[in-house]
Amino acid sequence: MAYSKKVIDHYENPRNVGSFKNPHSNNIGNALVGSPACGDVMKLQIKVNNQGIIEDACFKTYGCGSAIASSSLITEWIKGKSLQEAETIRNTNIAKALNLPPVKIHCSILAEDAIKDAIADYKKKNQ
Ligand code: FES
Ligand code: FES
Repeated sequence: MAYSKKVIDHYENPRNVGSFKNPHSNNIGNALVGSPACGDVMKLQIKVNNQGIIEDACFKTYGCGSAIASSSLITEWIKGKSLQEAETIRNTNIAKALNLPPVKIHCSILAEDAIKDAIADYKKKNQ
């Protein structure tokens, strides 16, 4: 299978890999999602400021190149966005940006789910 240049770039130089030290803090939203299709796992954390803007994000993904590239890309996309804006990101946007082939679409779904879960976790802590 031929990976797009953008996938290879994010896979070889993933952006924002890591973990925040204070996952239980109220300004952090955590997501841990797994794909039933392949067993890959993606961890995403967002740091939200008091204006509701995602000021930082990081990830760790145990999975294929497309899953790593998808998670790397979304950390770039969501930084600086409001929660409402970040919630509108769909897996189709990610798949299109990375030019993912059909068998790798579920990798982008994992990334969309991670964004939603991280936001939901943040909102639950701050309701
Ligand atoms: Fe797990 Fe993709 S099947 S790496
Ligand atoms: Fe399963 Fe990519 S092969 S997330």
